[in-house]
Amino acid sequence: MKKTALVTGGTRGIGAGISKALNEAGYSVAANYNGGAETAKKFHEETGIPVFCWDVSIYESCEKGIAEVCETLGGTIDVLVNNAGVTRDSMLHKMAPEDWTKVISVNLNSVFNMCRVIIPSMRDKKFGRIINVSSVNGLKGQVGQSNYAAAKAGIIGFTKSLALESASKGITVNSIAPGYISTEMTEAIRDDIKEQIRAGIPVGRFGRVDEIANAVLFLADEKSSFITGAALNINGGQYLQ
Ligand code: CAA
Repeated sequence: MKKTALVTGGTRGIGAGISKALNEAGYSVAANYNGGAETAKKFHEETGIPVFCWDVSIYESCEKGIAEVCETLGGTIDVLVNNAGVTRDSMLHKMAPEDWTKVISVNLNSVFNMCRVIIPSMRDKKFGRIINVSSVNGLKGQVGQSNYAAAKAGIIGFTKSLALESASKGITVNSIAPGYISTEMTEAIRDDIKEQIRAGIPVGRFGRVDEIANAVLFLADEKSSFITGAALNINGGQYLQ
Protein backbone atom coordinates (compact mmCIF):
# COMPACT_ATOMS: atom_id res chain seq x y z
CA MET A 1 0.00 0.00 0.00
CA LYS A 2 1.14 3.53 -0.79
CA LYS A 3 2.53 5.58 2.08
CA THR A 4 0.52 8.68 2.94
CA ALA A 5 1.99 12.17 3.25
CA LEU A 6 0.50 15.44 4.47
CA VAL A 7 2.14 18.78 3.68
CA THR A 8 0.99 21.95 5.44
CA GLY A 9 1.08 25.06 3.30
CA GLY A 10 1.41 22.50 0.54
CA THR A 11 -0.12 24.28 -2.44
CA ARG A 12 2.38 27.07 -3.08
CA GLY A 13 6.03 27.99 -2.73
CA ILE A 14 8.31 25.41 -1.15
CA GLY A 15 5.28 23.43 0.06
CA ALA A 16 3.93 22.94 -3.46
CA GLY A 17 7.34 21.66 -4.58
CA ILE A 18 7.39 19.19 -1.68
CA SER A 19 3.82 17.97 -2.35
CA LYS A 20 4.60 17.41 -6.05
CA ALA A 21 7.88 15.62 -5.35
CA LEU A 22 6.24 13.25 -2.84
CA ASN A 23 3.40 12.62 -5.28
CA GLU A 24 5.84 11.82 -8.09
CA ALA A 25 7.76 9.50 -5.75
CA GLY A 26 4.60 7.43 -5.25
CA TYR A 27 3.20 8.72 -1.97
CA SER A 28 -0.49 9.33 -1.54
CA VAL A 29 -0.32 13.07 -0.80
CA ALA A 30 -2.66 15.62 0.78
CA ALA A 31 -1.87 19.32 0.66
CA ASN A 32 -3.19 21.68 3.31
CA TYR A 33 -3.64 25.40 2.62
CA ASN A 34 -5.32 28.34 4.26
CA GLY A 35 -4.99 31.56 2.22
CA GLY A 36 -5.00 31.52 -1.56
CA ALA A 37 -8.06 29.46 -2.54
CA GLU A 38 -7.52 30.24 -6.25
CA THR A 39 -3.92 29.02 -6.14
CA ALA A 40 -5.00 25.87 -4.30
CA LYS A 41 -7.69 25.16 -6.88
CA LYS A 42 -5.19 25.58 -9.71
CA PHE A 43 -2.65 23.41 -7.89
CA HIS A 44 -5.24 20.65 -7.52
CA GLU A 45 -6.26 20.87 -11.18
CA GLU A 46 -2.64 20.67 -12.33
CA THR A 47 -1.45 17.89 -10.01
CA GLY A 48 -4.55 15.92 -8.98
CA ILE A 49 -3.35 16.20 -5.37
CA PRO A 50 -6.31 16.67 -2.99
CA VAL A 51 -6.25 20.00 -1.13
CA PHE A 52 -7.68 20.73 2.32
CA CYS A 53 -8.37 24.17 3.76
CA TRP A 54 -7.80 24.86 7.45
CA ASP A 55 -5.85 27.14 9.73
CA VAL A 56 -2.95 25.15 11.19
CA SER A 57 -2.55 27.66 14.03
CA ILE A 58 -5.85 26.44 15.56
CA TYR A 59 -5.68 23.08 17.35
CA GLU A 60 -9.32 22.08 16.80
CA SER A 61 -9.05 22.89 13.09
CA CYS A 62 -6.04 20.56 12.85
CA GLU A 63 -8.00 17.75 14.54
CA LYS A 64 -10.86 18.20 12.11
CA GLY A 65 -8.67 18.70 9.02
CA ILE A 66 -6.44 15.71 9.72
CA ALA A 67 -9.48 13.46 10.28
CA GLU A 68 -10.78 14.55 6.87
CA VAL A 69 -7.39 13.90 5.24
CA CYS A 70 -7.17 10.40 6.76
CA GLU A 71 -10.65 9.59 5.54
CA THR A 72 -9.81 10.74 2.00
CA LEU A 73 -6.42 9.00 1.85
CA GLY A 74 -7.78 5.89 3.54
CA GLY A 75 -5.23 5.55 6.34
CA THR A 76 -3.26 7.39 8.98
CA ILE A 77 -0.40 9.76 8.09
CA ASP A 78 3.04 8.20 7.47
CA VAL A 79 4.90 11.37 6.50
CA LEU A 80 4.10 14.78 7.97
CA VAL A 81 5.78 17.87 6.54
CA ASN A 82 5.19 20.98 8.65
CA ASN A 83 5.91 23.63 6.08
CA ALA A 84 3.21 26.32 6.61
CA GLY A 85 4.74 29.68 7.41
CA VAL A 86 4.26 33.41 7.07
CA THR A 87 6.44 36.49 7.48
CA ARG A 88 5.57 39.83 9.08
CA ASP A 89 8.99 41.45 8.81
CA SER A 90 9.63 44.59 10.80
CA MET A 91 12.32 46.03 13.08
CA LEU A 92 11.36 45.12 16.65
CA HIS A 93 10.95 48.74 17.71
CA LYS A 94 8.21 49.07 15.08
CA MET A 95 6.70 45.56 15.35
CA ALA A 96 2.99 45.36 16.17
CA PRO A 97 2.13 42.80 18.87
CA GLU A 98 -0.22 41.14 16.33
CA ASP A 99 2.74 40.55 14.00
CA TRP A 100 4.59 38.75 16.77
CA THR A 101 1.57 36.61 17.68
CA LYS A 102 0.65 35.81 14.08
CA VAL A 103 4.11 34.52 13.15
CA ILE A 104 4.51 32.48 16.35
CA SER A 105 1.01 30.97 15.92
CA VAL A 106 1.28 30.06 12.25
CA ASN A 107 4.95 29.04 12.17
CA LEU A 108 5.47 27.43 15.59
CA ASN A 109 2.18 26.62 17.36
CA SER A 110 1.08 24.88 14.17
CA VAL A 111 3.97 22.41 14.50
CA PHE A 112 2.78 21.49 18.00
CA ASN A 113 -0.84 21.22 16.80
CA MET A 114 -0.07 18.98 13.83
CA CYS A 115 2.40 16.72 15.67
CA ARG A 116 0.19 16.44 18.75
CA VAL A 117 -2.74 15.19 16.66
CA ILE A 118 -0.71 12.84 14.43
CA ILE A 119 1.95 11.37 16.75
CA PRO A 120 -0.35 8.87 18.58
CA SER A 121 -1.16 7.04 15.33
CA MET A 122 2.53 6.98 14.33
CA ARG A 123 3.40 5.50 17.76
CA ASP A 124 0.70 2.86 17.35
CA LYS A 125 1.98 1.97 13.89
CA LYS A 126 5.63 2.15 14.98
CA PHE A 127 6.47 4.15 11.89
CA GLY A 128 6.56 7.81 11.03
CA ARG A 129 8.54 10.54 9.34
CA ILE A 130 8.14 14.12 10.53
CA ILE A 131 9.98 16.89 8.69
CA ASN A 132 9.69 20.40 10.08
CA VAL A 133 10.65 23.35 7.92
CA SER A 134 12.84 25.77 9.88
CA SER A 135 15.03 28.43 8.25
CA VAL A 136 18.60 29.68 8.04
CA ASN A 137 17.27 32.73 9.86
CA GLY A 138 16.22 30.56 12.81
CA LEU A 139 19.91 29.68 13.13
CA LYS A 140 21.59 33.01 12.47
CA GLY A 141 18.87 35.66 13.03
CA GLN A 142 17.95 38.37 10.55
CA VAL A 143 17.25 42.09 10.71
CA GLY A 144 13.47 42.53 10.79
CA GLN A 145 12.72 38.91 11.69
CA SER A 146 12.77 38.61 15.49
CA ASN A 147 9.32 36.97 15.29
CA TYR A 148 10.16 34.63 12.39
CA ALA A 149 13.62 33.70 13.72
CA ALA A 150 12.17 32.94 17.17
CA ALA A 151 9.55 30.63 15.64
CA LYS A 152 12.06 28.91 13.33
CA ALA A 153 14.60 28.44 16.16
CA GLY A 154 11.77 27.08 18.31
CA ILE A 155 11.05 24.48 15.65
CA ILE A 156 14.59 23.14 15.95
CA GLY A 157 14.35 22.62 19.74
CA PHE A 158 10.89 21.11 19.38
CA THR A 159 12.18 18.74 16.70
CA LYS A 160 15.10 17.52 18.80
CA SER A 161 12.84 16.87 21.80
CA LEU A 162 10.19 15.00 19.81
CA ALA A 163 12.97 13.03 18.08
CA LEU A 164 14.17 11.79 21.48
CA GLU A 165 10.64 10.90 22.57
CA SER A 166 9.96 9.02 19.33
CA ALA A 167 13.29 7.31 18.66
CA SER A 168 12.26 3.92 20.06
CA LYS A 169 8.99 3.95 18.11
CA GLY A 170 10.26 3.86 14.53
CA ILE A 171 9.53 7.56 14.09
CA THR A 172 12.17 10.02 12.92
CA VAL A 173 11.75 13.75 13.48
CA ASN A 174 14.03 16.13 11.62
CA SER A 175 14.11 19.76 10.63
CA ILE A 176 15.46 21.36 7.51
CA ALA A 177 16.75 24.90 7.45
CA PRO A 178 16.35 26.35 3.95
CA GLY A 179 18.21 29.49 3.04
CA TYR A 180 16.75 32.00 0.58
CA ILE A 181 14.68 30.14 -2.00
CA SER A 182 12.99 31.74 -5.04
CA THR A 183 9.31 31.91 -4.04
CA GLU A 184 6.59 34.53 -3.55
CA MET A 185 7.86 35.00 0.02
CA THR A 186 11.37 36.04 -0.96
CA GLU A 187 10.07 37.91 -4.02
CA ALA A 188 8.43 40.34 -1.56
CA ILE A 189 11.79 41.45 -0.12
CA ARG A 190 12.90 44.95 -1.21
CA ASP A 191 15.14 44.73 -4.27
CA ASP A 192 18.20 46.36 -2.71
CA ILE A 193 18.04 44.04 0.32
CA LYS A 194 17.48 41.02 -1.93
CA GLU A 195 20.63 41.86 -3.85
CA GLN A 196 22.59 42.30 -0.62
CA ILE A 197 21.41 38.85 0.53
CA ARG A 198 22.20 37.22 -2.82
CA ALA A 199 25.73 38.63 -2.68
CA GLY A 200 26.22 36.82 0.64
CA ILE A 201 25.33 33.37 -0.72
CA PRO A 202 28.51 31.49 -1.76
CA VAL A 203 26.64 29.51 -4.46
CA GLY A 204 25.80 32.93 -5.95
CA ARG A 205 22.04 32.60 -6.24
CA PHE A 206 18.83 31.92 -4.36
CA GLY A 207 17.88 28.24 -4.09
CA ARG A 208 15.18 26.44 -6.05
CA VAL A 209 12.11 24.75 -4.61
CA ASP A 210 13.17 21.37 -6.03
CA GLU A 211 16.45 21.61 -4.11
CA ILE A 212 14.44 21.68 -0.88
CA ALA A 213 11.93 19.03 -1.99
CA ASN A 214 14.79 16.65 -2.76
CA ALA A 215 16.02 16.82 0.85
CA VAL A 216 12.50 16.16 2.13
CA LEU A 217 12.24 13.05 -0.06
CA PHE A 218 15.52 11.83 1.37
CA LEU A 219 14.43 12.29 4.99
CA ALA A 220 10.99 10.77 4.29
CA ASP A 221 12.50 7.58 2.90
CA GLU A 222 12.14 4.42 4.98
CA LYS A 223 15.89 3.90 4.58
CA SER A 224 16.66 7.20 6.38
CA SER A 225 15.76 5.44 9.65
CA PHE A 226 18.98 6.36 11.52
CA ILE A 227 18.67 10.12 10.93
CA THR A 228 16.67 11.77 13.67
CA GLY A 229 16.85 15.09 15.52
CA ALA A 230 18.92 16.63 12.74
CA ALA A 231 18.68 20.21 11.51
CA LEU A 232 19.78 20.08 7.89
CA ASN A 233 21.21 23.24 6.30
CA ILE A 234 20.13 23.78 2.69
CA ASN A 235 21.38 27.27 2.06
CA GLY A 236 24.03 27.40 -0.68
CA GLY A 237 26.75 27.85 1.95
CA GLN A 238 25.25 31.07 3.36
CA TYR A 239 25.62 29.95 6.96
CA LEU A 240 27.59 26.93 8.05
CA GLN A 241 27.51 25.44 11.52
N1 CAA B 1 22.33 43.61 8.36
C1 CAA B 1 22.59 44.66 9.16
N2 CAA B 1 21.84 45.77 9.19
C2 CAA B 1 20.81 45.83 8.35
C3 CAA B 1 20.49 44.77 7.48
C4 CAA B 1 21.30 43.62 7.50
N3 CAA B 1 21.06 42.56 6.72
N4 CAA B 1 19.40 45.12 6.78
C5 CAA B 1 19.04 46.34 7.20
N5 CAA B 1 19.89 46.77 8.15
C6 CAA B 1 19.87 48.05 8.86
C7 CAA B 1 19.72 49.21 7.87
O1 CAA B 1 20.99 49.60 7.39
C8 CAA B 1 19.09 50.26 8.75
O2 CAA B 1 20.09 50.83 9.57
P1 CAA B 1 20.00 52.40 9.97
O3 CAA B 1 18.69 52.54 10.71
O4 CAA B 1 21.22 52.59 10.79
O5 CAA B 1 20.01 53.13 8.66
C9 CAA B 1 18.18 49.46 9.68
O6 CAA B 1 18.70 48.11 9.67
C10 CAA B 1 16.75 49.48 9.21
O7 CAA B 1 16.69 48.91 7.89
P2 CAA B 1 15.66 49.40 6.80
O8 CAA B 1 15.97 50.81 6.38
O9 CAA B 1 15.60 48.36 5.73
O10 CAA B 1 14.31 49.46 7.67
P3 CAA B 1 12.84 49.34 7.18
O11 CAA B 1 12.00 49.57 8.37
O12 CAA B 1 12.63 50.14 5.96
O13 CAA B 1 12.73 47.80 6.73
C11 CAA B 1 12.69 45.47 6.96
C12 CAA B 1 12.87 46.78 7.67
C13 CAA B 1 11.29 45.38 6.34
C14 CAA B 1 12.83 44.36 7.98
C15 CAA B 1 13.76 45.31 5.87
O14 CAA B 1 15.02 45.53 6.46
C16 CAA B 1 13.78 43.92 5.26
O15 CAA B 1 12.92 43.57 4.46
N6 CAA B 1 14.78 43.08 5.61
C17 CAA B 1 14.92 41.74 5.08
C18 CAA B 1 14.19 40.80 5.95
C19 CAA B 1 14.36 39.39 5.39
O16 CAA B 1 15.45 38.94 5.07
N7 CAA B 1 13.27 38.66 5.28
C20 CAA B 1 13.28 37.34 4.77
C21 CAA B 1 11.94 37.03 4.16
S1 CAA B 1 11.94 35.47 3.28
C22 CAA B 1 12.05 34.34 4.51
O17 CAA B 1 11.88 34.61 5.64
C23 CAA B 1 12.32 32.93 4.08
C24 CAA B 1 13.47 32.38 4.80
O18 CAA B 1 13.30 31.49 5.67
C25 CAA B 1 14.82 32.80 4.48
